[in-house]
Amino acid sequence: MSTTTAGPAARPWRLGGRARKLVLVLHLASVGARLGLDVTMGVLVFGSLLTDDPERKAISFQALELVAVWPMTASGLTCLVTGVILALGGKYGLLKYWWVAVKLFLNLLLSTLTLVALRPGVEAMADQARAGGDLNAADLIFPPIVSPTLLVFAVVLSVFKPWGRLRKKG
Ligand code: HEM
Repeated sequence: MSTTTAGPAARPWRLGGRARKLVLVLHLASVGARLGLDVTMGVLVFGSLLTDDPERKAISFQALELVAVWPMTASGLTCLVTGVILALGGKYGLLKYWWVAVKLFLNLLLSTLTLVALRPGVEAMADQARAGGDLNAADLIFPPIVSPTLLVFAVVLSVFKPWGRLRKKG
């Protein structure tokens, strides 16, 4: 990381080449981790819908409790923090370009949905699995569809960087 000293309009700091690459690697690793967790969630949820074996269903929901929520929250937060550092420390800025602003919104939306909507459902199903109750994953089919779809959309935004600036320059 280096500090710029040229004039009042200059950014107070910016990421140097190596630091930027390191943060970008962390950013991409966190995206990969979150996508992997989403795929695992899909396999567990849809796998449990497609089986009549109660033992397999119970194992799926207890496994889901392990992979969903906290690992997802951690990878989402890592993505958010590294993304904000890349944005503020690089040429794109946090609220200068639509593609960055939309990714910020999507990340906050996904993190909130994970904690507020997914967590109670996953915990309730795991409790039911431990108690030997009836298990139906129908309420959980949307998270493994919505989450990876939004993430892949964010990857597309990152690569194509569409829509230009939020405000006119200057
Ligand atoms: C929502 C989930 C996100 C995904 C899937 C994602 C994905 C990516 C990918 C694939 C790249 C590499 C693009 C390339 O090098 O061509 C990238 C770069 C970048 N991301 Fe994200 N990102 C996400 C969230 C965020 C957030 C929340 C921010 C900041 C608010 C952010 C800011 C950036 C910036 C500024 C770059 C460009 C880095 C550079 O080359 O200097 N990202 N992102």
